[in-house]
Amino acid sequence: MMNLKRLAKSLILIILVLTQWSCAMNKISTNSTVKDNDKLVIAHRGASGYLPEHSIASKAMAHAMGADYIEQDVVMTKDDHLVVLHDPYLDRVTDVMEQFPIRSRDVFGQKRWLAIDFTLAEIKQLNMTEGFSVDKKTNEKKQGYSARFPLFKSSFKVSTLAEEIELIQGLNYSRGKDIGIYVEVKAPWFHHLEGKDISLATLKMIKDYGYKNKSDKVYIQCFDPIETKRIKSEVMPKLNVDYKLIQLIAETSWGETMQLKDGKLVPYNYDWLFEKGAMKKVAEYADGIGPWKPMLVTEDSTQGNIVLSVMAKEANELGLKMHPYTFRKDEGRIPDYAKDFDDLLDIFYNQVGVEGVFTDFPDLAVKFLEEN
Ligand code: G3P
Ligand code: CA
Repeated sequence: MMNLKRLAKSLILIILVLTQWSCAMNKISTNSTVKDNDKLVIAHRGASGYLPEHSIASKAMAHAMGADYIEQDVVMTKDDHLVVLHDPYLDRVTDVMEQFPIRSRDVFGQKRWLAIDFTLAEIKQLNMTEGFSVDKKTNEKKQGYSARFPLFKSSFKVSTLAEEIELIQGLNYSRGKDIGIYVEVKAPWFHHLEGKDISLATLKMIKDYGYKNKSDKVYIQCFDPIETKRIKSEVMPKLNVDYKLIQLIAETSWGETMQLKDGKLVPYNYDWLFEKGAMKKVAEYADGIGPWKPMLVTEDSTQGNIVLSVMAKEANELGLKMHPYTFRKDEGRIPDYAKDFDDLLDIFYNQVGVEGVFTDFPDLAVKFLEEN
C-alpha cells in the first residue's frame, strides 16, 4: 500500500515538472514569433544597403537578416499588374531609356518612363540596378550611394507584388518564421487620374494571399491622407479586411502627393499634420505614423540633448505607433546629434519611443535590438 502511495506521488511530481517544462517551451516559442508588442525592424526596400532596392535578392537577404517586416512599394502597369517599385517611373533603377528610348512622358517638366505606360511583359525585359541619376552634360549614370552594390552588375528584374509575397511566405515556411509584409500604395492620386484604383487592387491581392486582419503580419502605408482615410472607410470594409494602417508624412515641398485644385495639379498641403492636435485626428483612422526622422527629433537637438517635436510627444501620449524613415549608415547620413548608427537607433527606439524603424541596413538594427 505504502509503495502504491509513493508511486502515485512520484507520478504526480513527474506530471507537474513536465507541465511546467512544456509551459516554458511554449513561452519560448511564442516569444520568438510574436514580436508585434516589441520593437520592430522594417527592411526598407529590402536589405537595400547591400543589394539593389526592391530586388528579390535584397528581400531574401532582409529575411535572412531577421527583419520583422519587409517593405514593398507598389505601382501599377499598363495592363493592371502590381509591381514593386519605389517610383511610378522606371528610369531611376532600370535600363528602360536604352531599351525603349521613345516611350517617355513629360512629368512636371522632366522626361519620365512611367510603369503605367508599359505592360508587365515589357517591364520584365528590363534590367534592374541600384538607384542612379544621369548627368545632363555627359549622359553618365551616377549611382545614388557610391559605396553600395555596383551599377548594372549581376542580373536583377522588377518583381510583381505576387512574386514578392510568395517569396516571403515561402521563406517563412522553409525557415520557420513569420516575417511580415509592409506594403505602400504609391501615388494613388496619379493612379486615380489614370483610371486605376491601386488601393483596391493592392489590398485585394493581399487578402488573396491570406492576410485578413490586424493580427496578421501586414502593414498598409500611404503618403496620401485622403487615400489613407478612404482605405480605412471604404476599401477595407468593401473587402471585409482590417489591416494595420500607417499614415506616411511628407513635406509639402516634396510634391509627394498632388491634388487637383481648379483643374490644376498642386502639392497636397501636409501642414496640418505638424500642428497641435494633429495626431488625435490621425488616430481616428490610422494605427500609426511613418514620418521622416527630422519630424520627430528637432534640429535644435545636440548630442546628449534630444529635443522631441510636438508630433513625437502627441503620438507617444496617444499610443500611436511611430515608424520613422530612413535609417542609413552611409557616409553623411547620420545626423550630428548622434555619435554613430547605434546611437541613432538608441535615440529613436529608447528616447523618442518609436516602435519600429525603416532601415536600409536591417542587420544592424536587428543586432542593436538583440544587444540592447
Ligand atoms: O514608406 C516609408 C519609407 O519607405 C519612406 O518612404 O520614399 O522610401 O517610399 P519612401
Ligand atoms: Ca516606401
